[in-house]
Formats: sequence, structure tokens, C-alpha cells
Amino acid sequence: MAPRVVSLTPAVFHLPEGVNAVSRAYGAQPIVPRGPAFAPLLAAIRSGVTAALRASEYEPVFLTGTGSTAMAAVLGSCLHPTERLLVIRNGAYGDRLHEFARALGQPMVDMDLPYGERPDLDRVDAILGRGEADAVAVVYGATSSCSLNPVAEIGALCKRHGKKLFVDGVSALFVEPMELGAWGISAVMGSCNKGLHAHPNLTMCLVREDLLAEMQRLPQRAPSLELVKIQAAQAKGSHPYTIDPMSLLQVKAALEALEAEGGVAGRHAIYSARAALLREGYERLGLTIARWEGMPLSSIGTALEIPANVSYEALAHRLATEEVDGHTFEIYAAQGKLSARLFRIFHMGSYELDVYRVFLRALGRALG
Ligand SMILES: Cc1ncc(COP(=O)(O)O)c(C=O)c1O
Repeated sequence: MAPRVVSLTPAVFHLPEGVNAVSRAYGAQPIVPRGPAFAPLLAAIRSGVTAALRASEYEPVFLTGTGSTAMAAVLGSCLHPTERLLVIRNGAYGDRLHEFARALGQPMVDMDLPYGERPDLDRVDAILGRGEADAVAVVYGATSSCSLNPVAEIGALCKRHGKKLFVDGVSALFVEPMELGAWGISAVMGSCNKGLHAHPNLTMCLVREDLLAEMQRLPQRAPSLELVKIQAAQAKGSHPYTIDPMSLLQVKAALEALEAEGGVAGRHAIYSARAALLREGYERLGLTIARWEGMPLSSIGTALEIPANVSYEALAHRLATEEVDGHTFEIYAAQGKLSARLFRIFHMGSYELDVYRVFLRALGRALG
């Protein structure tokens, strides 16, 4: 029998059985986008998302695409073209925020930090206090360093100075507890895949209601990703473009699976247990966990130093090809600037805890 391929990556991994059941049944019973089953389905996932995230003062908007689509939609829909955006970047997705804002021609204050380094909050406070920026964009779960940015603290500064705060929550929503309202977040770029465990083809943004009202007067600059237009349609049970109802059904099933695990708190506890087991195992095997001062580790994965006696490629190849107890494992290189020094192991998706015990045995073997 072929081994079970376990994905230790943050994108494509095993999904809940309810999501897989949709994939199997849908061909025989498709839903027509303008038919009678569509509006109730959209309404169910709209209310399911805001309930799961305790985000009653936010409007969810679903889009065909991935996390990057949500980033483009927020940057292109929530800012006036003259607003100055402070981009706090200390990882690959902060770089992407900067790249997308530059493509839109947004005036920017660029806080370009070494990957993983905690942003200096006094500097952020000073920039906002001097009125040099009108809005801030930052990543919460920094996937390239597997750490968390101080978004609550940045949000408190934005609140104090009356600035908009846009958060890339792509790898954090549904798994890292977030207090969107209390943290002063204006809009979140999200995902229906990562922490929610549906497929990576439907994405999501959340926009605070007061910002949405202001956005009626803002030019919508990302064609086909206009959050104002799409939110208005979705609130009435439709969508201005084609959207895949199977993906919406999978999101509904993923929300049910999340609820069955105890919601975001329950899923966070599951991921934390995996992280504790794995991190203890990594250290027992002599690996060094990458840490940055003042940056807590994320609960979705761990960045590790590449050991001196084996290359990342050789390690990844052995784990992906040598079967241990019926399993093979796919791990992830680090990104860009960090890839010469680090590699990453994520523990996302629908796996039982014992899978990670098998993985630690495989890792011990592969490390020789
Ligand atoms: C924090 C963060 N933002 C944005 C993205 C972009 O997602 P994608 O490349 O799937 O569009 C990712 C993907 O891993 C991410 O981790």
C-alpha cells in the first residue's frame, strides 16, 4: 500500500472528513450560483465566520483566490490613493504587502527590518505621533520566521493616534486567538485554507463596519476584488463574479469541523499540543529552534537551524521518500533571506497527535 503522505507545510495538507465528503458528493449535486440553494449557503458561511472569530462588528467578504488575493483586495479597497501607509515588514509577507502597495502606487513609509526582528514600537509610535502615516499594515502570523508580530500593541498605537490598521492574518486566523475589535484592527486579510482547513482556492477578508461605510467613498482600485461591491452583493446573497459553490460548501464543512473542535480556542489548543510535542522532540534530537527576542513562536510551525551534518535538500528528500510506520513526510524550506540558514516544519491540518510521534522517529532517522 502507498504510504500516507503527511504534509508538514502551511498550504496543502489533509483536511477534515466533512470537507472531503463535500468533494466526493458535489459532482452529483452541484449548486447553481444564482439558484435557490446559493443565498442560504452564503449566509451560513458569512455568519459562521463572524461567530467563529467573535467579529460581530466586521463584515466578511469571500473571494476566489488565495491569501495574496485577500492582501490585494484590502490594499486596493480600503485606502484612499493619497493615504500614507506605514508598512512594517520583517518577513516574506511583509515584503509582499510592500510590493502590492507599491504596485497600487500607495505612498508608503517603509519600515524594512531584518526577517524575524521585532518592530520597535517606540519608532512606530513616533511615526504615527508625528502624523507621517495615515494607516499601518503588518503581518500577524509571520510564516517565514514562524513567529508572531506584536499586533495588539501596534493596534493600541493605531487607536491612540486614530490610524487604520490592516493585518495580514492569512496564517493566523482561526488558529491563533485574535481580538479583532479590541486590538483596533480595521481590516484583516485572511484565508479559508490555512487555519480554517478548507481548500486553498477561496479566500476571505474581514472589514470593520465603520471602515466599510467610509469605503463607499473610496475608489476601488483592484479590479474584480472591489470589497465594497462584493460585500454589498454577498450581504444580499449573491456575488458579482463567478464563485465556486463547491468551495463555499467546503468552507461550511470546515466551519463545522472547527466548531466540533471547540472553535478557535479548541483548535489553538490542538496546535499548541502539537507544537509542544514537536519542539521538545526537535531539541532532544539536537536541533536548534530559531527564536527572535520579543517575538513569540507561532502555533502553526517551527523554523529550525539547518544542522551542520546534513543539507536541507538531503533531509527533505529522505523524509519524503523513506517510509516510517506507513508514513512519509514533506517539510518546507525557509523563504528568501532565511533559506541558507533555516528550514521549517509546520503542523497544520487534520492529523492525529500520534502522526507527529511517527514524524519525530522519521526525523531522528533522517538526521542520522
Ligand atoms: C502570512 C501570509 N500572508 C500571505 C500569504 C499568501 O498566500 P498565497 O501565497 O497562498 O497567496 C501567506 C502564504 O503562506 C502567508 O503565510
